[in-house]
Amino acid sequence: MKNILITGGAGFIGSHVVRLFVTKYPNYTIVNLDALTYAGNLENLKDIENSPNYRFEKVNLLDVAALTQVFQQHQITDVVHLAAESHVDRSITSPLDFVYTNIVGTVNLLNVAKTHWANELDKHLFYHISTDEVYGALGDEGFFTETTPYHPNSPYSASKAASDHFVRAYAETYHMHTVISNCSNNYGPYHFPEKLIPLFINNIIHKKPLPVYGDGKYTRDWLFVKDHATAIDVIFHKGQINDTYNIGGFNEWKNIDLVKLLCKLMDEKLGRAVGESEQLITYVKDRPGHDRRYAIDATKLNKELGWYPSVTFEQGLAETIDWYLNNGEWLHNITSGAYEKYYASMYTNR
Ligand code: NAD
Ligand code: DAU
Repeated sequence: MKNILITGGAGFIGSHVVRLFVTKYPNYTIVNLDALTYAGNLENLKDIENSPNYRFEKVNLLDVAALTQVFQQHQITDVVHLAAESHVDRSITSPLDFVYTNIVGTVNLLNVAKTHWANELDKHLFYHISTDEVYGALGDEGFFTETTPYHPNSPYSASKAASDHFVRAYAETYHMHTVISNCSNNYGPYHFPEKLIPLFINNIIHKKPLPVYGDGKYTRDWLFVKDHATAIDVIFHKGQINDTYNIGGFNEWKNIDLVKLLCKLMDEKLGRAVGESEQLITYVKDRPGHDRRYAIDATKLNKELGWYPSVTFEQGLAETIDWYLNNGEWLHNITSGAYEKYYASMYTNR
């Protein structure tokens, strides 16, 4: 029996983790704590919201009293911490939001967990979900391993790096049992359409320009979100205490090649002429401090815990495109209102 607090469960990756844990572990109680910022959406969890082992708490990580109340009321035994400000472009325009949620929010959660678990810290786990962006940028060669030095380049990655350091410090200083995983770029259903793949799917549907930053030769390592959720499940249950695991897709793509593939698949699905959507590609001003290449070496996770991605990129991308085409209402609800203002402010000046 466990009462697991999953933070950020109404977001993209968090909703997949909540769904996996709620359905796979009926003996666990899953408490989803989320402030429901612009990125949090309870629609993402409609299918499991009435499950007997699921609870939701609308709480901000900055509200220590409310966090304490959640730990007491649900007798939280373990934490899987995903809540964060997650979009690099927003971190460039509003860095302090990232300091508050990603750094102060994480330290608040560590403090409340430490106090609640008091003299039994070794019986509980604080699992912190992080990103490969903490390692900085790679050139044409090489991979990030668990021993690559931290070298964050954006306010987002600096805030995630700081939160990782705090988690490590709480393990060393207070002997909390912690684990950290650093994952590469995720894609899949319920991805907020400010990030490359869902933004471009939405723009292709509406025949809007596809704004490719810089020369388009920036490289990312893409992982299907459901495979990230299974990696988190494996690390939560079998990971070494106070250790770190890299999670990646073994799947590097230059942005422009990925965008062209997406255009081709979308043209096929939408019955459009070959090459029609590629004409929407528009090169725009680069992202400041844009990291050239990310590539994860996930060998340790594979060798120690036996995890490997379950789907190919072709399968995952096809499932993702189908999901967006079949969930027009979800997409419409998200892209109306505040989203339109965001899009106008981010993209008109590029
Ligand atoms: P997301 O932006 O989709 O979701 C974040 C969630 O956190 C939202 O539901 C939001 O409401 C909630 N939240 C934000 N601020 C909060 C606060 N102050 N208090 C409580 N809740 C708050 O993010 P995501 O893409 O699902 O990422 C989840 C985690 O995984 C993040 O920690 C991110 O750094 C990490 N990560 C993401 C990726 C990726 O490709 N998306 C890759 C590696 C790691
Ligand atoms: O690597 C893990 C990280 O991946 C996560 O920690 C972040 O939370 C997540 O947002 C993601 O960061 P990126 O900056 O890599 O993702 P994004 O989808 O914003 O951009 C992917 C690439 O596409 C990047 O090189 C920038 C480029 N891009 C992005 C957008 C939104 C464009 O060319 N045009 C765009 O409009």
